[in-house]
Amino acid sequence: MAMKLCVIAGDGIGQEVVPQAVRVLRQLLPQLQTVAADAGWETFQRSGNALPPVTLAAARDCGAVIFGAVSSPAHKVAGYRSPIVQLRRELGCHANLRPTLSLPGCGTPGIDLLIVRENTEDLYIGEEQSDGDTATAIKRITRVASQRVAASACQLAVAEGRRRLTIVHKANILPLTDGLFRDVARQVAADYPQLQVDELLVDTAALKLAQAPQAFDMLLASNLYGDILSDLAAAFGGGLGVAASLNLGEQAAIAEPVHGSAPDIAGQDIANPVASLLSLALLLRHWWQLPALDARLEQAVRATLAAGIRTPDLGGSAGTAGFCDAVLARL
Ligand code: NAI
Ligand code: MG
Repeated sequence: MAMKLCVIAGDGIGQEVVPQAVRVLRQLLPQLQTVAADAGWETFQRSGNALPPVTLAAARDCGAVIFGAVSSPAHKVAGYRSPIVQLRRELGCHANLRPTLSLPGCGTPGIDLLIVRENTEDLYIGEEQSDGDTATAIKRITRVASQRVAASACQLAVAEGRRRLTIVHKANILPLTDGLFRDVARQVAADYPQLQVDELLVDTAALKLAQAPQAFDMLLASNLYGDILSDLAAAFGGGLGVAASLNLGEQAAIAEPVHGSAPDIAGQDIANPVASLLSLALLLRHWWQLPALDARLEQAVRATLAAGIRTPDLGGSAGTAGFCDAVLARL
């Protein structure tokens, strides 16, 4: 089967980091076919749709996707919906993998943490109402989605040789919704006796993560808590420029740097491509099942950083393209 990657660069620095990271990937996978597709704010302004049907079709057809970043309006704009939230849902990417690792000279040493975040429900279903004085949002937790993400987390834990899985919730305040998530995760994890399973209230988890991120192995969380805790964890890994993620499902996987479109630095060739490179590494490992190539890519990124080559967000002077040249030279 031909290997295909749907390339959605998006807005702002997505247009810089994604093509550069894909250039590096091509060296590892010379047979890779790429299909470019549009999404985001500029696409919305041009076509009235932030995620055009042709983009969705290309993403479905390829299965593997890299999604750079898009700009989103901070106020409600009629007809605009976040394309990444929609894409994750349309492609059935039920689990969001957010690793934090210590890279040479970045962040806090000794961290190797994987956060698995439920990716399809919770407060992110977009069911909000307001009469102007009272606003309500629906938080939906289902057994089926909780089961699915917990099973993925346990399988990953075993495959990656991780030992401890911490379930994050707030079941003391939300016994029905978060209680369901916690109980289902516990039931699923009971089939994995090799895993040490424990649980933490989300506020305690935030405190402990801030105090000692090295103490955690793997966290399993519903959508909102996972979103917030993984950004907190990213701060220990060297910041947004290096934070990678993978949205994983049965039919598709979306590699997604955690950062946004960074309009403050766009168009200057100074954006850090490491987040995109490491997101592609996750795709190599978990979607294409090519762990040896994932290791080569990660090693080349580490060697480049260790040589003192880094973009300005990490205190260096390398450009986006120059950094990728240096990675290519070390592959
Ligand atoms: P942001 O992540 O774009 O930028 C935050 C700060 O981090 C900025 O100072 C930026 O220069 C820096 N930064 C981010 N990525 C970097 C990289 N690769 N290299 C070097 N520095 C980097 O978040 P912000 O400013 O809150 O949002 C900007 C736009 O991006 C907004 O329209 C927002 O809606 C959108 N956004 C999109 C996301 C997505 O597509 N998944 C996620 C977050 C924000
Ligand atoms: Mg986020």
